[in-house]
Amino acid sequence: MKYFEPDLIMAVGGGSVMDLSKGAWILYERPDLTDLGMISPLDKLNLRQKAMLVAVPTTAGTGSESTGAAVFHDTAVQRKIPISHDELVPDVAVLSPQFTISMPPELTVGAGLDVLAHAMDAVTTPSANEFTEPLALKAIEMVTQWLPRAYKNGNDREARFRMIIAANIAGIAFGMSGCHLTHSFGHALGAVYEMHHGLCVGFFIPYSFQFCQRVTDNHLAICKALEIAAPTAKEGLNNLVAEVRGFLKALNVPLALKDFGISKKDFENKLPRLVEYSYGDISCYLSPRPITAGQCEMVMKYAYEGQDIDF
Ligand SMILES: [Fe+2]
Repeated sequence: MKYFEPDLIMAVGGGSVMDLSKGAWILYERPDLTDLGMISPLDKLNLRQKAMLVAVPTTAGTGSESTGAAVFHDTAVQRKIPISHDELVPDVAVLSPQFTISMPPELTVGAGLDVLAHAMDAVTTPSANEFTEPLALKAIEMVTQWLPRAYKNGNDREARFRMIIAANIAGIAFGMSGCHLTHSFGHALGAVYEMHHGLCVGFFIPYSFQFCQRVTDNHLAICKALEIAAPTAKEGLNNLVAEVRGFLKALNVPLALKDFGISKKDFENKLPRLVEYSYGDISCYLSPRPITAGQCEMVMKYAYEGQDIDF
């Protein structure tokens, strides 16, 4: 960019490509900023003096085309660094299902679960509101309906179309309200084991619900949208978790970390880093239930065995 001096940046790709473009755009416009991790959403960046950003997603997941969020992988320290700034919302997004047709089934699932995690977090975070909730609920409905179809048949154009719209809708919702524990834990798992972002955050959806249920009954809105029986908040939660687990299972996603082929010894060796990264992740601050480092460790241990969170 420094050499070519573009006045239009076109990011064609998945979340990594769009987020990378946002990072490069900042450094192109603001060479005085050297540490992207230190960017505050409260400071003015004054972008668009040199270029505009067009985002063309080729996956249906991240929603980066409609958010000011970007996640960078700092390979030197193997950490995921999420940043967020209003000025990073792309100027134009081009949503075409054609670009997502060639995604293999595993990537389709990973990306689709990212949408689900964004939307479910957007409903249950304390900053959920009347603008974000209807969008997030719509995205949840759409993912449960269309992701299994896109997974089974990648050439199903209607499923691909609905999924790219769902990803965008969920992006608009969580771009305003933020997402929480699925992403704190997911970022840690993804960084330490170099696993796909969407798969990691989707995996943690049931654990996040169970951990938060002591302080919120926002999940009842999801039960209502998906027509899941919820005579009480607790029963609704149990039914919702069972539904999500059934959904993950049908998409061949393991329900316990040990079923990803991670040995107990390796997990125990890496546990301190998993805890440090998840507790240090900015998404923790948006959790309805404040979490301690000790509780992060417990969630990770329970997730390894596939146990219900009971604390
Ligand atoms: Fe995500």
